[in-house]
Amino acid sequence: MVNSSSPELRRRVVVLGTGGTIAGRAASSDDNIGYTAAQVGVADLLGGIEAPDGVTLEAEQVAQVDSKDMSFDVWQQLARRCVHWLAQADVAGVVITHGTDTIEETAFFLHSVLAPSKPVVLTCAMRPATALSPDGPQNVRDAIGVATTQGAQGVTVVCAGVVHGGVDIQKVHTYRLDAFASGDAGPVGYVEEGEVRLVRPWPQGQAVPAAKILEAAAVQWPRVEIVMSHAGASGAVIDALLLHGGAGPLRGLVLATTGNGTLHHALEAAALKARDAGVSVIRATRCSSGRILPKAGDPLRDAGALTPVKARIALMLELLG
Ligand code: SIN
Repeated sequence: MVNSSSPELRRRVVVLGTGGTIAGRAASSDDNIGYTAAQVGVADLLGGIEAPDGVTLEAEQVAQVDSKDMSFDVWQQLARRCVHWLAQADVAGVVITHGTDTIEETAFFLHSVLAPSKPVVLTCAMRPATALSPDGPQNVRDAIGVATTQGAQGVTVVCAGVVHGGVDIQKVHTYRLDAFASGDAGPVGYVEEGEVRLVRPWPQGQAVPAAKILEAAAVQWPRVEIVMSHAGASGAVIDALLLHGGAGPLRGLVLATTGNGTLHHALEAAALKARDAGVSVIRATRCSSGRILPKAGDPLRDAGALTPVKARIALMLELLG
């Protein structure tokens, strides 16, 4: 008889490291904010974490960055490594350790280009690895639990015992361990003692054609900027962006709007000018929940429930064709 830990039935979970606070080091274990992110290797982050029965963990360092500095190159590399590992029959899923600051952008990007039928689970920590009571190890253990759950699929983010969909997640707190929310959609589920309690279906979707990202050696990422509407706004920022300087021509513009997609009239006038000059313009609400409800005659299209940072990624992918 074959037992559950025999090589025939062993499954792998590949843990890709990208840096973040989860890999951060501080000079003192009392210090939860004065640390340097992205110092500890992903293999070391797995030390002391017991894999579920029949599961082998494998670590791969894809990047080592503070996620405020996340780059398109790292995204491209991550997407490629996910494709590589998920194609292996014995790989149950991929876990990605990441900084909290842009985890929602990376998750949305991976959701958009992969929409995987196996789980890709991002996780993070609000305290550095050197903290008296770090949250990283439990988050990684929970993420592995999600990656090995029967039927799990799509891109999710696991933090503080909550499973968020990669499309819905937003960082909503600067300090609390449970720093994320999923807005109106709510979480996908919870991890309790290694078991997932699902409260809505796993994320699904259709990946955008991403051959340019997954196969091309170098991607010419279109320049897309975000400009916020606010009291006393003017068109000056958009006018300056159109001059482009050394940063390359502006291809897209996301307007972070007030409320239900509204714009200061001066900003709107400049945005219409940019659109008429060939820039792709889209509105995304700066409200943390809800979506823009379109109205007949709206002069500029809207991004629905996408936040400005996610609308930017969607627009970049659209412009990449
Ligand atoms: C980062 O995003 O890399 C640093 C902050 C964090 O992970 O909480």
